Amino acid sequence: MTRLIVTGGAGFIGSAFVRGLLSRGNPPAVTVLDKLTYAGNLANLAEVADHPEYTFVHGDIADAALVDELARDADAIVNFAAESHVDRSITEPGAFLETDVIGTFVLLEAARKHRHQRFVQVSTDEVYGHVETGHTDEDATLRPRSPYAASKAGGDLLVGAYSTTYELPVCITRSSNNFGPYQYPEKVIPLFVTNAIDDEPLPLYGDGLQVRDWLYVEDNCAAIELVLERGEPGTTYNVGGGNELTNLELTRMILELLDKPESLVRSVPDRPGHDRRYAVDASRIQALGWAPSHDFRTALADTVRWYRDREDWWRPLKDGDYVEYYRRQYADRLAAGTRIG
Ligand code: NAD
Ligand code: TYD
Repeated sequence: MTRLIVTGGAGFIGSAFVRGLLSRGNPPAVTVLDKLTYAGNLANLAEVADHPEYTFVHGDIADAALVDELARDADAIVNFAAESHVDRSITEPGAFLETDVIGTFVLLEAARKHRHQRFVQVSTDEVYGHVETGHTDEDATLRPRSPYAASKAGGDLLVGAYSTTYELPVCITRSSNNFGPYQYPEKVIPLFVTNAIDDEPLPLYGDGLQVRDWLYVEDNCAAIELVLERGEPGTTYNVGGGNELTNLELTRMILELLDKPESLVRSVPDRPGHDRRYAVDASRIQALGWAPSHDFRTALADTVRWYRDREDWWRPLKDGDYVEYYRRQYADRLAAGTRIG
């Protein structure tokens, strides 16, 4: 693949993917297509802004004319673009359908028309829904439970249909929760780290015993790149870090790394429909040659240090519209919250 469109490349994972690709010798030509929603940020791509193989296009993946024009000059699309936050999908689901379902459809149509060599759909383990015991493999039934997960599942099903019906060479990756630098401070790790830096309360949903499997963002990007290069057409690959933790355990680790007291934690009313646990079986991508190369504790410590050092990056994001988002999301919850321990 020599001419790539990376959608959502100004977001958290997409920007890590683009920075990674362009930091190595002989990279493909990369066109980032991004709508620059609240989660998109050109600061995430500042270090590649002058790279000769990088082009930025400000636009919507659901804009068929624009996507068609870009796809004409490309060999492959890697689709990171999405509305990605479960809590926002609960309060305002419409944008999730527009981007995660219709946007994916528009991209697939363009890839089909221009006979692309590869389409990689970056998806999530949340499409499998809550996993009580064991680990879900790629053949597990999709049981999405939030509007976010349902929209991603809708996108994935369309991708599968384009493989079967049109023999479009697609692959899907479904990863567990990512963490690392440049993650918008609405997701739990950057939210808790930045709140703790400011001695603000950490709103832990419910009993905090929900389980997530944490994956360092660069390890996910390595998996996506491998699938782009060597994935079997028509195949889905789970990507998991093998680091299952309860949210309470994770919160305590963050506080310890920042030397902050547990009294900052508030148990607040739970997220509606909150999935208790996600856990994927990643043996298929391991067989393709992937394994996470970052130790969880070291990567978490590095990530916490990054947010401590990069207030210039996150402080502006916690201003403006974010203040209203935070108030809507947390004011009542925090008022009803209790200290733990
Ligand atoms: P993010 O919210 O940080 O970034 C999303 C990016 O997509 C932003 O730059 C935004 O501006 C852009 N975007 C949104 N709507 C768009 C549209 N209509 N047209 C063009 N661009 C648009 O998300 P992220 O955490 O980087 O996630 C990237 C992908 O990975 C998503 O598809 C998400 O579902 C998936 N994923 C994320 C995680 C995670 O832990 N963050 C885990 C598994 C899968
Ligand atoms: P999040 O980062 O939103 O990712 P996802 O919902 O996609 O897994 O949340 C991770 C976990 O942290 C999830 O179980 C919900 C929990 N959580 C809190 O306890 N408090 C919060 O303020 C947030 C944002 C999440």
